[in-house]
Amino acid sequence: MRIREAIDFVGIGRAGDRGPFRRLLTVDDLRSAARRALPRSVFDYVEGGSDRELALTGNESAFHDARWLPRQLRDVGAVDASTTLAGDGWALPVGFAPTGYTRMIDPAGEIAVARAAKAAGVPYVLSTVGSTTIEDVTAAATAPWSQLYAMRDRDLTDDLVRRAAEAGSPVLEIAVDTAVSGNRLRDRRNGLTIPPKMTLSTITDIGMKPRYWTRMLRHEVMDFAQVRASDSNGVFAGGSIADIGAQFDPSLTWADVERIRSLWPRTLLLKGAFAPDDARRALDAGVDGLHLSDHGGRQLDQHVAPIALVAPVRAALGDDALLVVDSGVRSGGDVAVAIASGADAAFIGRPYLWALAAGGEPAVGHLAGILGAEYRRTMALLGATSTAELRSMGPELLRWS
Ligand SMILES: Cc1cc2nc3c(=O)[nH]c(=O)nc-3n(C[C@H](O)[C@H](O)[C@H](O)COP(=O)(O)O)c2cc1C
Repeated sequence: MRIREAIDFVGIGRAGDRGPFRRLLTVDDLRSAARRALPRSVFDYVEGGSDRELALTGNESAFHDARWLPRQLRDVGAVDASTTLAGDGWALPVGFAPTGYTRMIDPAGEIAVARAAKAAGVPYVLSTVGSTTIEDVTAAATAPWSQLYAMRDRDLTDDLVRRAAEAGSPVLEIAVDTAVSGNRLRDRRNGLTIPPKMTLSTITDIGMKPRYWTRMLRHEVMDFAQVRASDSNGVFAGGSIADIGAQFDPSLTWADVERIRSLWPRTLLLKGAFAPDDARRALDAGVDGLHLSDHGGRQLDQHVAPIALVAPVRAALGDDALLVVDSGVRSGGDVAVAIASGADAAFIGRPYLWALAAGGEPAVGHLAGILGAEYRRTMALLGATSTAELRSMGPELLRWS
């Protein structure tokens, strides 16, 4: 055999190792590719956390403390990664969490992410501060789940809820961790404004990342399309993220959750972190479950890692409530840790933005492929044949170091 044939042989049967993303084998590879593709200030907008970024780094390191004790000699010839969330079937127990202003990463923005999520069979949550409307996302892909920032202007809040219901969104998530905006020092140091302004440093960036800027400049001006479409009073006309953040309602209480419950006909979640007592309180307020999150370490710093809350919150909620978790999920192995801890699914924020920056919609699909393959491999090595089985075997499989 010639050496050339022997080298080809190494790659046989690994479709994922061919094609444009063959060198992007992990979420970390996608992060590095995003760093190369994006201007520094945009990369930092995605990457950064608040204050000293202790919550941000703690989220990832909490997953590193998980250790497995697998069960042996169980037939894992067929492993079923699928799951059901809010009454719908999904290919993987993974979801794409809401991220604001996604078109700053790539002009195809929310639509690219929604299409990739649909193709991969995972849910996508559209942000209130998305740069595409829910109507446009629904027309291009399918009705996304909707994240809601309750606004000081109650009419505006109610209109966002109404539009989500009319679009056919199956799940509404009220974010409760954003009474005030987190202190994102990277953005302040970089002078990042959203929408970006042409400053001396933006012009320097153009020189360094011409491909990014050429793509951006060829597309329409972007804005906070999703919230603007409900803004009949013109509060946000020409506004920046800071203006919008100032409109988030800091006086939100359980009574508001009950009011929004009365407006929303389908599954309602609260997105944020919850002590077991607050988790039970949420059920009393009429919600169907929780999306455990510390906003990816972008709001309250020194936050408990949400993955550590899954087991106690599941115990408080009981088996039937919907419980998903995000913040720090970086692999299919981390997804398995979340399921074994008692979550119904693990959501990701930054990883799909890194993929979007690295290669648009196809790269987001590639990311879903990486997570799916890693998750299925972990299940097989653990001796779990389905997501439901992994969830029920979780306590005997998982140790924390
Ligand atoms: C760039 C960026 C923008 C975000 N925008 C929102 C948002 O508009 N609404 C929201 O509820 N969460 C937002 N989040 C938080 C995500 O929904 C999610 O909780 C977080 O990214 C999960 O952590 P991970 O990035 O470590 O996966 C944002 C996160 C990032 C990274």
